[in-house]
Amino acid sequence: MKRPPDKDKAPSALDALKHAIGTLQGLGIPGAAEEARAILRDGLGIDLLRLYRDNPPLSPDQLRRLDEILERRKKREPLQYILGFVWFCGLKLLVGKGVLIPRPETEILVEETLRRAGRQREIKILDLCTGSGAIALALAKNLPRASILATDISGEALIWAERNRRENGVENVRFAKGDLFGPAGDSVFDFITANPPYIKEERLKTLEPEVVCWEPGIALSGGADGLELAGRIIRGAAAHLERGGRLLMEIAGGTESGPLARMAGEAGLRMEALVRDLANLERVFIAEKV
Ligand SMILES: C[S@@+](CC[C@H](N)C(=O)[O-])C[C@H]1O[C@@H](n2cnc3c(N)ncnc32)[C@H](O)[C@@H]1O
Repeated sequence: MKRPPDKDKAPSALDALKHAIGTLQGLGIPGAAEEARAILRDGLGIDLLRLYRDNPPLSPDQLRRLDEILERRKKREPLQYILGFVWFCGLKLLVGKGVLIPRPETEILVEETLRRAGRQREIKILDLCTGSGAIALALAKNLPRASILATDISGEALIWAERNRRENGVENVRFAKGDLFGPAGDSVFDFITANPPYIKEERLKTLEPEVVCWEPGIALSGGADGLELAGRIIRGAAAHLERGGRLLMEIAGGTESGPLARMAGEAGLRMEALVRDLANLERVFIAEKV
């Protein structure tokens, strides 16, 4: 960021905000103003109330940090990777290269699971495709007597998940590496949760660069029809569920219920609900083992 003509005068927080908004808008980033405020608040540690009230000058460190953040954003690196964290269900989760950034709509899956699990019950949960550990850790925090196994095929993702477990002081989650149900052996659970990769192969190239150039491909691609992993999860779930146990799985918005219900029926499950997200798109598939 250029210094004002008067060299002794440091740029103010409002100068920095305008500069950040202008740079992000120039890059065509949607929600530039909101993102610029997040950069000042979470990246530079500026209290936004104070910004508007006192308009404090930026320290040399803050100026350097702002330039660094905007340079990285010019390469379309996701802001969450640059800041190093994201909030999910009230937990601060560390994220960076090698792990998918948890999305707000995934909180719906956590809420739907919590509504069905009694807080004090000693239940067993299997979280497939755990990534940063978001779903497993949010459930564990709210279900202190549950015991949770969370698996992922990516060793890199599991390093983030384990860090997040320690940072959030969670004891009742164990992470294991492997293909879907592999690490679970022949154990059975009361709940299986999953947010598998579900983007159709041909849609991948239409996604914004923050996703397609930065987030791990293995966390995104759901094969030609988007249902490759989801199908395997539905087919494998009954063998790992208690009778009356439930599978709760995030799906791509707009997935039709017919094929899902049919797959569930053939796999010994009964589709219970398709819960919509705030954009009114089908988002969480719920089925019970009959
Ligand atoms: C969409 S991300 C979900 C991450 C996290 N649960 C969340 O909601 O933010 C999908 C995850 O599935 C993992 N994955 C992909 N294929 C897998 C497989 N065959 N077995 C287990 N995990 C897999 C990826 O490594 C990635 O972490």
